[in-house]
Amino acid sequence: MKEIQIAIDGPASSGKSTVAKIVAKDLGYIYLDTGAMYRAATYLALKHQLTAEDSREIIELLEEHPIGFGRSEAGEQLVFVGDVDVTHAIRENEVTNNVSWLAAIAEVREQLVALQQRIAGQGGIVMDGRDIGTVVLPEAQLKIFLIASVEERAQRRYKENLSKGIETDFETLKKEIAERDYKDSHRAVSPLKAAADSLTFDTTGVGIEEVVAFIENKAKALIEEG
Ligand code: DC
Repeated sequence: MKEIQIAIDGPASSGKSTVAKIVAKDLGYIYLDTGAMYRAATYLALKHQLTAEDSREIIELLEEHPIGFGRSEAGEQLVFVGDVDVTHAIRENEVTNNVSWLAAIAEVREQLVALQQRIAGQGGIVMDGRDIGTVVLPEAQLKIFLIASVEERAQRRYKENLSKGIETDFETLKKEIAERDYKDSHRAVSPLKAAADSLTFDTTGVGIEEVVAFIENKAKALIEEG
């Protein structure tokens, strides 16, 4: 059967990864969380006290400690930097609040985009991020751009953090999300932007199942088309 590429882009906490994971599982496709890759690189940079001025050192570190993925016995996707499991560490506030400067470094993006494209070459894929439909997989057959209000996204992140035992203040979270939106959309390289041929879906007040059904119906139609 024909395998397609599905690009899911959108701002922080718009539901991308939750939905992408389910769609990938249902279709038997690879799921790639590109945000986790930028987070893993940020974790590495912070661990070595590097800043936005140290792009060469960051690239070298990424070559020494490549980002990789694995799966736990319970089926959870694991993220590695070299052989260190950073799955949980990359969700901490310190990483979240520093990822925007790292993601704005062109050379770092080049390296991560090349890796993302190599992974996509393995077959059917659902990839989520900010620039998947515009830069990473411009030929993707299905491009989805998910949006939701800042209020709702802050609520989602708040609940997610609570379930992971991470303490956060709701108002601070809202401010941080709005700031990250601004930085992600206004950076010079690969800003967050809907591809001209993407379908925008507002998930404010919409259940996950409904978003998944929308994407899977589109995907199945494309697969059957051959
Ligand atoms: O999806 P996320 O919140 O885990 O992403 C973390 C950060 O990584 C986000 O603030 C922007 C950046 N990012 C990016 O620049 N390009 C991508 N394809 C994915 C994420």
